[in-house]
Amino acid sequence: MKEKLDQIEKDVKQAFDAELSAGELEALRVKYIGRKGVLTDIIKSIKDVPASERAEAGKRINDLKRIIEDKVKTASPGRPGHQKAPAAGGASRGRMLDRSLPGSRYEVGSRHPISQMIEEICDICLGFGFRIAEGPEVETEYYNFTALNIPNDHPSRETFHTFFLDLPEERHPKDKHANRILLRSQTSTVQIRIMEKEKPPLQVLMPGKVYRPDATDASHSFMFHQVEGLMVDEDIKFSDLKGILDALCKAIFGARTKTRFRPHYFPFTEPSAEVDVSCIICGGKGCRVCGKKGWLEILGAGMVNPKVFEAVGYPPDKWSGFAFGMGVERIAMLKWGISDIRIFYENDLRFLRQF
Ligand code: PHE
Repeated sequence: MKEKLDQIEKDVKQAFDAELSAGELEALRVKYIGRKGVLTDIIKSIKDVPASERAEAGKRINDLKRIIEDKVKTASPGRPGHQKAPAAGGASRGRMLDRSLPGSRYEVGSRHPISQMIEEICDICLGFGFRIAEGPEVETEYYNFTALNIPNDHPSRETFHTFFLDLPEERHPKDKHANRILLRSQTSTVQIRIMEKEKPPLQVLMPGKVYRPDATDASHSFMFHQVEGLMVDEDIKFSDLKGILDALCKAIFGARTKTRFRPHYFPFTEPSAEVDVSCIICGGKGCRVCGKKGWLEILGAGMVNPKVFEAVGYPPDKWSGFAFGMGVERIAMLKWGISDIRIFYENDLRFLRQF
């Protein structure tokens, strides 16, 4: 009996040392501890063992049984015959895929608040008849300044107001407007690109990123988002611009919001205005957010300057239009009561989960 058990023990060790498939494992289980298994048979013949050796033999048989049961259990907790898990660097030899374990969780995530804000503005304007268009973020000086009637000596063309790119000569665009390459500092560039390609009537909304080398603080970022609007047709009037922007502001901030147009100057619109909304915190009474003024500036706008029409080859006496541009971060901050622009770019889930 003792020799028999020695032999079985050696066989078992050897058999289970190999990398085993589920089928092989099940075969070994049947071979040793199945109903007609080797160990099962031996247990039946234990009565033939001399009484003095019986206890010792019984213990060894039980130990062997347990070893086999353990091996089968840890390797294959499910039903037999399923797939073997890939061995991880040899450390998990013979270990099986445990389908009862919870799977790895994927966080579904949500749209970034800035994307949501852009989408909301686009949705509202789609209702006004606008369509959406986009343009490149890497631009030429022509689209960012020249075609928009911004003079050559304008301070915004200085390197501390605009990111200029140092491109090797062979990568410069070879078109008629080849000049300095830059990261656009306004989405007004897309007005030009659309008008160059298409004829009026036009009613286009142009969202996107813009870049300015400002020092970062609670209200400035070197990159932010704008939404540009452009409408060109025969006989477009300033009252059309006022109507659209008033309706847009009410749709974003609520029906009781008032708008105010203050005279301003932009080279590409004439006349131009800056548009304020009644403070959404105090309703116009004056508070900390509006600096006691009761009004919040949210966008620039105006009637398209005839010089811009000339630049894109539209006869200025035939066409008229308006344009507007607004900062998405600023609107989102006002709408949601966010006091620091940097929080949009920090990927802090405690912030992002709230949207
Ligand atoms: N491009 C201007 C800016 O970035 C905003 C603007 C757009 C003003 C269109 C008038 C018309 O400040």
